[in-house]
Amino acid sequence: MTKWLSGLGSQAPSALALAAIILLDGGQCTLAADGPLIRPGAVWPDDRGQRIQAHGGGILKFGEVYYWFGEDRSMGNARSQRFVACYASTNLAQWTFRNQVVRLSDPEELGPDWVLERPKVYYNAPTKKFVMYAHIDGRGGYKFASVAVFTCDTVDGDYKYLRSFRPLGHESRDIGQFVDDDGAAYLIFEDRPFGFRIAQLSDDYLSVAKEICLIPEHLEGGAVVHYQGLYYVIGSRLTGWDPNPNQYATAKSLAGPWSDFKDIAPPDQNTYGSQSTLMLKVAGTKTTTVIFMGDIWHPWAQWDSRYLWMPLQIGDGKLWLPAPKPWSLDLKTGAATMQEK
Ligand code: GAL
Repeated sequence: MTKWLSGLGSQAPSALALAAIILLDGGQCTLAADGPLIRPGAVWPDDRGQRIQAHGGGILKFGEVYYWFGEDRSMGNARSQRFVACYASTNLAQWTFRNQVVRLSDPEELGPDWVLERPKVYYNAPTKKFVMYAHIDGRGGYKFASVAVFTCDTVDGDYKYLRSFRPLGHESRDIGQFVDDDGAAYLIFEDRPFGFRIAQLSDDYLSVAKEICLIPEHLEGGAVVHYQGLYYVIGSRLTGWDPNPNQYATAKSLAGPWSDFKDIAPPDQNTYGSQSTLMLKVAGTKTTTVIFMGDIWHPWAQWDSRYLWMPLQIGDGKLWLPAPKPWSLDLKTGAATMQEK
């Protein structure tokens, strides 16, 4: 029964399907009471029934709607181009495909294996522009090590490539996004010789203005959350597509000093086969949930790479990723509920 249900991904079943589930399950409905389930590691279909293509992704909340942007690695994509897809949701479980917001041909002549990875979108209120950052590189040695910047007038329109550059002159591979509670926007980027850096974007977000800190640890997939007066940073070790034990550190200020790094899950679990890309804070009327968003990469079938989203146990300087299981989120109260059976 559970196996059959997992084939549904997070899509809410129709009344007919629900009746069938209840019948087949002897009346024991396995849907959580308060919403559609998020199923870590399962096929996650969009409103068209197609696998969500938002790998290495980021989230922008605009108004009451969440937008999920990520690498679109659909099988039918043109091989010379790179793609970013955008999906919208009001419950974080069911996602509507909006647009392939980037369809780009190698803009810097990096060669046939060029990469455009980990897109992250920010909204710049003063200019009313949506600004996307992504890692742009050539595969052979990842020597270009730069960010690509795009803009758009609408959240899910066609994003226009502006330029690429090295943030503050530094090498930049994996990138992460962080917007603080005061609205300040930051780029997290891996600067391989040294560690990874957190830097504030310029007022119009079109460039990187100021370094906040260098964390001298070799981590990528960097993500930051500000939770109950403390900053938590997580990252993954440099093992390419292979999962490794992701780790976290804390600091009272974004500039540090940062604590030592500790495991976010039992190290032998290799982050349950996933790699960090973002931490999403959802504040409701009763509580605040911080979601770990990770990628389960399938390097030889990238189109089938999966997602591991789980609510973190976080607070008092501790952060822990529980063993994945289906769960649901009440966006109003902010409460996450695990499916216990
Ligand atoms: C990982 C990185 C991914 C991708 C991959 C390619 O380290 O996080 O975004 O670049 O390497 O091997």
